[in-house]
Amino acid sequence: MKDNSLELMLAETGDELPSNDSNNPTFASILERRFSRRDMMRTSLSAAVVGAFATAPVAALARPGFLPSQAAGRAAIGLNPTLSFDAIPPVRSDTATVPRGFKVQTLAPWGTPITGSYPAYDGVNGNSGEEQEQQVGSHHDGIHYFPMADDPNGHGILCLNHEYVDQNVLHANGPTTVNNRRPNADEVRKEIAAHGVSVVEIKRTNGVWDVVRGQYNRRVTAGTPCEISGPVRGSDFVKTKYSPNGTMARGTLNNCGHGTTPWDTYLTCEENWAGYFVNRGQRPREQSRYGVGTSTSRYRWDTVAGDEYERFNVTPSGASATDDYRNEVNGHGWILEIDPFDPTSTPKKRTAMGRFAHEACVFAMPQNGQPLAFYSGDDAQNEYIYKFVTKGRWNDKRRDPDMLDHGTLYVAVFHEDGSGEWRALDFNDPAFLSAALEKGVQFTSQADVLINTRLAADVVGATRMDRPEWGAVHPQTNEVYFTLTNNSSRTVADAANPRTRNAFGHIIRWREEGNRPWATKFEWDIFVLGGPETDSQILPAQDGPALDESNRFASPDGLWIDQNGILWIQTDMSGSQQASGPFGENQMLAANPITGEIKRFLAGPFQQETTGVVSTPDGKTLFVNFQHPGDRSGPRSFTSNWPDSGAVYRHPGDAPVTASPSGPRPRSSTIVITREDGGVVGL
Ligand code: FEO
Ligand code: CA
Ligand code: CA
Ligand code: CA
Repeated sequence: MKDNSLELMLAETGDELPSNDSNNPTFASILERRFSRRDMMRTSLSAAVVGAFATAPVAALARPGFLPSQAAGRAAIGLNPTLSFDAIPPVRSDTATVPRGFKVQTLAPWGTPITGSYPAYDGVNGNSGEEQEQQVGSHHDGIHYFPMADDPNGHGILCLNHEYVDQNVLHANGPTTVNNRRPNADEVRKEIAAHGVSVVEIKRTNGVWDVVRGQYNRRVTAGTPCEISGPVRGSDFVKTKYSPNGTMARGTLNNCGHGTTPWDTYLTCEENWAGYFVNRGQRPREQSRYGVGTSTSRYRWDTVAGDEYERFNVTPSGASATDDYRNEVNGHGWILEIDPFDPTSTPKKRTAMGRFAHEACVFAMPQNGQPLAFYSGDDAQNEYIYKFVTKGRWNDKRRDPDMLDHGTLYVAVFHEDGSGEWRALDFNDPAFLSAALEKGVQFTSQADVLINTRLAADVVGATRMDRPEWGAVHPQTNEVYFTLTNNSSRTVADAANPRTRNAFGHIIRWREEGNRPWATKFEWDIFVLGGPETDSQILPAQDGPALDESNRFASPDGLWIDQNGILWIQTDMSGSQQASGPFGENQMLAANPITGEIKRFLAGPFQQETTGVVSTPDGKTLFVNFQHPGDRSGPRSFTSNWPDSGAVYRHPGDAPVTASPSGPRPRSSTIVITREDGGVVGL
């Protein structure tokens, strides 16, 4: 049934190769699907609305000027949203495409000056590393809007991830590499500065959004000092020449998806960080299980002279860990918490939440007096889905800024019958230790368990998944949705990952036992199998239809449920699937989780990936990111000119826009989508 022409070319997109060689269970027989359980879940979704969550105000937490996001009038309108727009067809145009009745502007593209001396973007001669440090980074990914109290729907702070760089586009004439080395130190400084996070104040004036040159603006880059927090802090694993007491790490890498907290801070997730480092000696397990490089580092930053660059070579060279860089890599692979309202605050690596290729992070709706639950997927082939449950209990009147430092990390096991369980990765849990012992694996402390999160999850028999990407939690039901983007290396299907060589991906969902996010048992089903008409299905109804012209997609990635219960699905197709498949360019679709209705809402310019979506509290302004338009560009030869060619968006029926190699340099950017009649987007 598979269309082999749509196979993936993963290596080309910078995705890490699989490094899970554990033998965790993959279930033998899967063709028998458990529809009775699916039907049960479907009924319970509409019946068991946890109405109190959606409107619970988070009182007394606002810092000056701030509006706590959950107090910002986000009362849910309904569980069964009507998708009132006309679906757009699959498109190829070097613009955004939105349904008639909608308009689009760009906001904060790569190179926008936001701090310091506000150096202007120079798309012809390029900006220096020092200038990039004062500008918005490249490769926009996760995004969140924090509303300000004076005008919550027209004034706020945008936090924006910058996942990686495309050297051909970043530098005026591409990168300089001689004998596998980087002789131009400023190029590397610029690449480091283009990574990380931008915190940007934004404001709407006469209907147009713009960056404010305000006090909150800041850049966190791949070189910014960060505090190591939680159980790994001070352990031998993170003692370095830079931080002999193991309390600090430098920078944040490959910031993919994001999360937030109920206390209105921003979480940025470190995904494919391992390849930025190289170890030409014997790799310890905390490097090999994550795929730290053995011959070269991704961008060869380590070949530039100076401590801040050489640290990317983690080959032991000194007498001990505090004499060299061997532990630099252990400061990466975490979720980093940033307080967007305090530009002087030091970002904190929350090690209790585990170390893996974090895609994104999403919390279940808080309940007063109960622990909080945060979900995060490990995006690599055959890796796992995790849940962190805080030890502290949520109190909407009193903020505990270090709530993420204490708690239990669990990993998901999806049983064949539609049930599931969360297994604790806890050094103080006898069941965990005996499981480790049985497998011949030794841990010395919880820090050891967390540094080696993947190994700990192997030990308890976690279910190997088809590349877990973003999660979303329904704001009324607490039902959790997760994208499983694709997995070209799956040879044995199981109930939760039902296709071998899964080229198109799917979306799984679950409900925690008793609707308690901290529960250790859950029920799950599959919401939709992506793909062309010949190999796709909208579930959970047994006779659910295949996808069609209005909604076929592959490689689901970004995911978000808005306050109206619309599930927004974003795609990250790559290789031939992206270049010539029946799906058009990468896109965003809207879904009704109750009925399974799915409609394509947005498509982006050539070769971009659509990733990250959030709205203003009133739902009338949607912020979305287009990452890496013109992904196949050479130096000064561009395969997209968006957004500087003039045409930012079009409607179906308008002439598609082509790209010119000698046209403007493409730029990742946020886009702002509104309805021409000022209504709520999507409904
Ligand atoms: Fe950075 Fe898994 O996408
Ligand atoms: Ca992604
Ligand atoms: Ca992806
Ligand atoms: Ca990406």
